[in-house]
Amino acid sequence: MGLRGRTIIVHETDELIDKIADDLIARAMRTVLGGQAFHLALSGGSTPRMLYRRLVIDPRYRHFPWHHTHIWMVDERCVPPTDERSNSRMIRELLVDNIVIPPEQVHPMPVESPKADRAYQKLLQQELPIDTDAASPTPRLDYVLLGMGNDGHTASLFPHTPPLGEAKRWVAYNDGPTVQPPRPRLTLTYPIINSARTIAVFIAGVAKYGTLQQVATAREDWQRFPINGIDPQLHPTLRDGELIWYLDGPAARGLDESQA
Ligand code: 6PG
Repeated sequence: MGLRGRTIIVHETDELIDKIADDLIARAMRTVLGGQAFHLALSGGSTPRMLYRRLVIDPRYRHFPWHHTHIWMVDERCVPPTDERSNSRMIRELLVDNIVIPPEQVHPMPVESPKADRAYQKLLQQELPIDTDAASPTPRLDYVLLGMGNDGHTASLFPHTPPLGEAKRWVAYNDGPTVQPPRPRLTLTYPIINSARTIAVFIAGVAKYGTLQQVATAREDWQRFPINGIDPQLHPTLRDGELIWYLDGPAARGLDESQA
């Protein structure tokens, strides 16, 4: 047993952020130099804020090809976009307002509209390029950045909730006793996340190590630890996606080498 995919442990959080930023920009440049737009889905929560700041402030990342990037949301809390708990507000304030990106390439989840799940799925279907090399041609995100909550949730896929069983729809509302407020939430589901070319899970801090150990020993249990349902190998038709866990020393504490 162990974590699915590949694991990168960098003891200092600050250096881990550099590693994520380096890997992210390398993938973005490769896609854009290949003549395609780069489709990037970003998470909320507190951990990725450090990365968003780094991308804006650090001169090493100034050449990020934002002009050819689309920014999508991994999940959203159903609060107005001005609410301080809104993920898109956080991403707008930390990242979008500080980079040069065509506004039509930034796609917040339209949580204030009825049927926002369907509207967002439709937009994804319209905008994502179709991978024609795949066994069954399918639209794909290039890169999905995820975090993990202390209960093992990722995106807004919470333990024992209906979206965990979603096999077709890419976007779903989520609510119920295990969904952390503010709720309901809107979330990307396993089918679209697991079809991404790269899935990066960024986990930092000592508060996460206990959960991470449990996640590593219960790999098949994604009802209890929804992050365990994240794996390109679980996608029914695509097999070439990569899953990379980026862990700092305190979060990785207790994971032995075979688990990582
Ligand atoms: C959200 C998220 C969520 C987050 C984890 C980890 O909107 O809350 O997208 O899945 O990534 O809860 O959050 P922290 O980084 O704050 O620990």
